[in-house]
Amino acid sequence: MATVTFEHVTKRYGDVVAVRDLSLEIRDAEFMVLVGPSGCGKTTSLRMIAGLEEISDGTLRIGDRVVNDVAAKDRDIAMVFQSYALYPHMTVRDNMAFGLKLRKIPKADIEKRVGEAAQILDLGGLLDRKPKELSGGQRQRVALGRAIVREPAVFLMDEPLSNLDAKLRVQTRAEIARLHQRLQTTIVYVTHDQVEAMTMGSRIAVMNAGDLLQVGTPQELYDKPRNRFVAGFIGSPSMNFASLQVDGERMKGSGFDFPIPSRFRSSIGAASSRNVVAGFRPEHLELGGTGERLTIRAKADVVEYLGNEELLHCTVADHDGDVIAVVSASHNVRPGDVLDLQIPADKLHVFDAETGDAVAASTAAAAIA
Ligand SMILES: Nc1ncnc2c1ncn2[C@@H]1O[C@H](COP(=O)(O)OP(=O)(O)O)[C@@H](O)[C@H]1O
Ligand SMILES: [Mg+2]
Repeated sequence: MATVTFEHVTKRYGDVVAVRDLSLEIRDAEFMVLVGPSGCGKTTSLRMIAGLEEISDGTLRIGDRVVNDVAAKDRDIAMVFQSYALYPHMTVRDNMAFGLKLRKIPKADIEKRVGEAAQILDLGGLLDRKPKELSGGQRQRVALGRAIVREPAVFLMDEPLSNLDAKLRVQTRAEIARLHQRLQTTIVYVTHDQVEAMTMGSRIAVMNAGDLLQVGTPQELYDKPRNRFVAGFIGSPSMNFASLQVDGERMKGSGFDFPIPSRFRSSIGAASSRNVVAGFRPEHLELGGTGERLTIRAKADVVEYLGNEELLHCTVADHDGDVIAVVSASHNVRPGDVLDLQIPADKLHVFDAETGDAVAASTAAAAIA
C-alpha cells in the first residue's frame, strides 16, 4: 500500500515537453485515472512512476521515499500494458509464476500466490492452457494475474482494455473495479476513454498537451468542470457550446438570447471580457418544464431513436455546428420539427471566451437556484 506524489514534475524529450510541472497526490488505495487525448502525457507520467523514464525536473515519491533515482525493479510496482505480451510457449500458470521465479521466491509461496490470483480472476480452469488457447479477455486476465502475484504496492495500468471488443471491455472494466475493491491497493490507470475514467476512477486527473487541468471525483468533473476543455471532454455526448456576447442583463449570439442566470450576474458583470462561451449538456435539455430556464429555438434535423430516449441533432439559426439534445423518446420528435429546447438555469455553464476558464457562480445565488 502506498501513495504516489508528483511534485512539480516535468518530462522533456529534447524540445518536446511531454509532461509540464505536474503536481498530483495519489492517495493510498485510491483508483486514480489519468485521462486525456492521445499525446497528452499519460503514458509518460505512468512510466515515470514505473521508473522507465527519467524525470527532467521535480520530485516523485512513492510513499515517503523519493524515487527519482530508484531503479524500476526496486520500486515495488507492477505494470499492465495494452499489449499484454504473454510468453506464448508457457502455460497460464507459468506465465503468472515466471516473474516470481526470477525473484527466487520459494516454490510453495509461488504456488499459493498463483492459486489465489487464479481464483480472484476466475482462471482456475485455465492454468494449464497456453495463451493461444485463450480468448482476448482471458489473456488480459492472465496479464492482470501476473501483476497481482507480485503483490506490489502500486499497480500501473496503461490502456489495458483497448485491445478488447466493446462487450468484453465493459465486462473487464467491472472486473478491474472489483479487483480494486478486493485488493485495496493503489491503482494508477491510464485511458483516453472518458467513459472508462468516469466508471472506474475514485478520482480522475484530466490532462491535455502535457498539462494537468483538473483532478476530482467523477461527479465533481461532471458538475463543476474548471474549464472548457474538461467540460467538453467529460460526458457523452459532449457538452454543447455557444459563443455569446454579454449585453446588459443578457447573453446573445446567433440564435441564442439568454437572460444571465442570477448566480453568474456578479462575476460576469465584473469580467473584463464581454465574450463568453455558454455550455450545456445534451441530457440537460428539455422540452417543456418549470422553474428558472433558458430557451433555444431549434430545428430537429436528425432524430436517433435509442429506445428510452431519443438523440436530436438540431440546428439553431446560423449557429456553427449542431446542438445535440437527449430527450425522452415519449416526445416522439420528427425530423423538421421546430422545438423550444429548455435549459434549467442551474445547468448552464459559462466560460471566459479567451482563457476557457469557468466563470465562477456566486455561491449565495447557487444555493437558491
Ligand atoms: N521517447 C520519446 N521521445 C520523444 N517524444 C516522446 C517520447 N515518448 C513520448 N513522446 C512525446 O511526448 C508526448 C506525450 O506522449 P505520451 O505520454 O505517450 O502520451 P499519451 O500516453 O497521453 O498518448 C507526445 O507528444 C509524444 O510524442
Ligand atoms: Mg499512451
